[in-house]
Amino acid sequence: MEIVKVSASKEYNVHIGSGFLDLVGEKIKEIKRLCRVVIISDDTVYSLYGERVSKSLEDSGYNVVKFVVPHGEDSKSFENYESILEFCAENSITRTDLFVALGGGVVGDLTGFVASTYLRGVDFVQIPTTVLSMVDSSVGGKTAINLKAGKNLCGAFYQPIAVFADCETLKTLPEETFNEGCAEIIKYGMILDKDFLTFLQDNDIRNNIEYVIKRCVEIKRDVVNRDEFEKGERKLLNFGHTIGHAIEKCSNLTISHGNAVAIGMVIATKGAYEIGMSDEDFTDVILPILEKNNLPTACDFSAEELYKASLSDKKRSLDTMSLIVPEEYGLCKIMKLPVEDLQNFIEKGMN
Ligand code: NAD
Ligand code: GLY
Repeated sequence: MEIVKVSASKEYNVHIGSGFLDLVGEKIKEIKRLCRVVIISDDTVYSLYGERVSKSLEDSGYNVVKFVVPHGEDSKSFENYESILEFCAENSITRTDLFVALGGGVVGDLTGFVASTYLRGVDFVQIPTTVLSMVDSSVGGKTAINLKAGKNLCGAFYQPIAVFADCETLKTLPEETFNEGCAEIIKYGMILDKDFLTFLQDNDIRNNIEYVIKRCVEIKRDVVNRDEFEKGERKLLNFGHTIGHAIEKCSNLTISHGNAVAIGMVIATKGAYEIGMSDEDFTDVILPILEKNNLPTACDFSAEELYKASLSDKKRSLDTMSLIVPEEYGLCKIMKLPVEDLQNFIEKGMN
């Protein structure tokens, strides 16, 4: 098993390997004394792995209760957030207890936000079970729920005490969901690591999944260690996300996060070149990698629709929007664009 150590406001290990889900209780016992554990999961993931994780924790001496939400993005809701808090209070969960997020980014973001606010903060562990959550959302402490106005508009920076990424769980992942996670993997190559970008051009992600997850976690760890609260460099991790979030919003969340980010990266790459923010056109780098991984590269919404949907983005100030755009092969930069120019940027990026 590989371990990547994060040193942010909390220090913790990200464990990456295969076939250790039944040992999670033992591993947690190395860092957390016996207590009550609330496993939060979705119905699909709990039916596949819930009993195993629960048994592993109970065999190690923990007292386990569970809260299962329906699968899907809609579960990152204020209603679920409130129901879980009430459930915890009814079950007398205390500040020294533990939350365990078992599932993809939806469950991870929701659990993390609950953990950050219940009794002003309770420890939590991430057990990511999708490619996206292993390479991105389980690491770095961004937690959130969605508001009607937009994605992730209510949340907190709150680090887990450990992450356990068991790649064996990816065997049950539908192919499309696996591919969606590849968008965030390609993002890391584009923004910060030219060698990794070349690796992704020349190799198959699925056949190298443990290496790929470890490399992504290392890249993210380095960024988070330097800029945990996204004052600067961490914004790079949002490559493709401003337009991606707009696509998710326009689709009423029927287009997944990964697919939306894939399209968002294409629009940002092309748009940046067309309006002169990037000196070179890197569309011919990103398009083939996305296509090779069966990711979408365009959508049917108009530039005007995407522009309006992106106005509630967190990276907006009163009159400018921070955009992440390619600077060199395997390197992105953060640029500010007047909000009134954003529609033109999107339009150019879509042609
Ligand atoms: P998800 O959590 O909805 O999981 C996708 C689907 O796969 C769900 O239906 C789930 O039930 C199913 N599933 C999960 N694991 C499975 C397994 N092992 N076998 C079979 N089915 C399985 O989606 P996701 O793509 O993991 O995460 C997307 C979310 O992550 C979005 O809400 C996004 O905003 C968030 N996100 C957060 C961060 C962050 O830094 N916090 C970063 C990127 C994305
Ligand atoms: N997924 C973007 C970040 O963690 O900053």
